[in-house]
Amino acid sequence: MKNIATIILAAGEGTRMKSCLPKVLHNICGKPMLEYLIDNVNSIGIDKVFAVVGHKAGLVKQNIRGVKCITQNELLGTGDAISITRAALLKDNKIDNVLVLYGDTPLLSQGIIKKLIEKHVSSSAGATFLTAQLKNPTGYGRVIRSSNNKIIKIVEELDASIYEKVIEEINVGVYCFNKRALFYGLEKIKPDNKKEEYYLTDTIEVLTKSNILVESVTSNDSEEFLGVNTRAELGKAELVMRKRILDNIMDRGVTVIDPGNTYIEHGVEIEKDTVIYPYTFIENNVKIGSNCNIGPFARLRPGTVVGDKVGIGNFVEIVRSCIGRETKIRHQCYIGDAVIGKNVNIGAGTIVANYDGKEKHKTVIEDNAFIGTGTILIAPVKIGKGAITGAGSVVTRNKNVPAGKTVVGIPARLLNKYKK
Ligand code: UD1
Ligand code: CA
Repeated sequence: MKNIATIILAAGEGTRMKSCLPKVLHNICGKPMLEYLIDNVNSIGIDKVFAVVGHKAGLVKQNIRGVKCITQNELLGTGDAISITRAALLKDNKIDNVLVLYGDTPLLSQGIIKKLIEKHVSSSAGATFLTAQLKNPTGYGRVIRSSNNKIIKIVEELDASIYEKVIEEINVGVYCFNKRALFYGLEKIKPDNKKEEYYLTDTIEVLTKSNILVESVTSNDSEEFLGVNTRAELGKAELVMRKRILDNIMDRGVTVIDPGNTYIEHGVEIEKDTVIYPYTFIENNVKIGSNCNIGPFARLRPGTVVGDKVGIGNFVEIVRSCIGRETKIRHQCYIGDAVIGKNVNIGAGTIVANYDGKEKHKTVIEDNAFIGTGTILIAPVKIGKGAITGAGSVVTRNKNVPAGKTVVGIPARLLNKYKK
């Protein structure tokens, strides 16, 4: 898709979110909503992606990658936001069409975006936009059609008459414009509406009045075009996204005992025949092998990689750690910044003290080691192959336990010193 550029509008404050964080940076399943849109357009092969930023622009720029940001200094409406991309788009002769997305519709699928572009290109329309039929259309722009079903214009909720308000066909907020038609339309719109803003939606009427073809694609999936304007809608989006992630994971042969009470974030990979028990949280990009049992009540945080046939039980928290195959960490443990080998047993209540108040340190536990119940390992420290720690021992920093040896006590000492 070489001749298409995408503009994602992300300058708004999102007042209705009542937040210090710009709306588009709010997370859904561990990933900022804006990133879902960027990833989707990149995956369908569009590499010219612009984001219009404004409210806390610096913060938005810092937190997103893979887009060229253009700053809208004064938030004068969606039409104004597109107008400021004019210079960047017009100077690139290779761009014929412009896909416009709003940063607050993170559930859009690649499929519907592709369908919209295909229809736009095949019909050579000036603009093609996505519509949907909603039983409760409140809050959305309404699509006004003539008696022979031709699109006339889009009317915003605030400006709609009582007759227009009952229309159930809404503007989803996804458009594909011919570049010249877009800027032709934008030149003619005026802020004569209740909000006194330049509405992108008003370009539709400009085009139809000039006899430029405007097409639409209608989606039946009411979930995917949810616009996130409030915390309640953010919660809804989270539910939909979580279900998508879980369905995808189950499709790959993973058992999720209770999908309604299992929380898996984006980018998580789990191999087949692993079973996830309820109230388990698996955060961004964690990787889990096959035939593992995870949970109930386990929390695997970012940077965790788990091998095959591993058992992780209740109230176990793991972060930035690798767990080797067939290792068992069954009850009430904290493991941070550790590399744990194969077939290790981590006893109930083991704590890896990885943070000394200033820095985090590494812990290594080699294959076949046996960590006794209630052991505290103060990092940095290494437990050698097949070594054992006694129940309740505190292995202090840098007091590495040699392979095959046993340590006990506080601070932990080699057991065989006292043995004949
Ligand atoms: C918009 C549409 C409406 C549609 C709905 C779908 C307009 C005028 N209305 O309404 O027809 O049904 O989306 O969700 O487009 N933004 C900027 N700069 C601005 C103003 C807004 O970048 O000056 C961005 C916002 O950050 C947001 C997006 O544009 O990501 C849409 O703005 P928003 O205020 O949420 O529009 P809606 O009222 O939801
Ligand atoms: Ca919105």
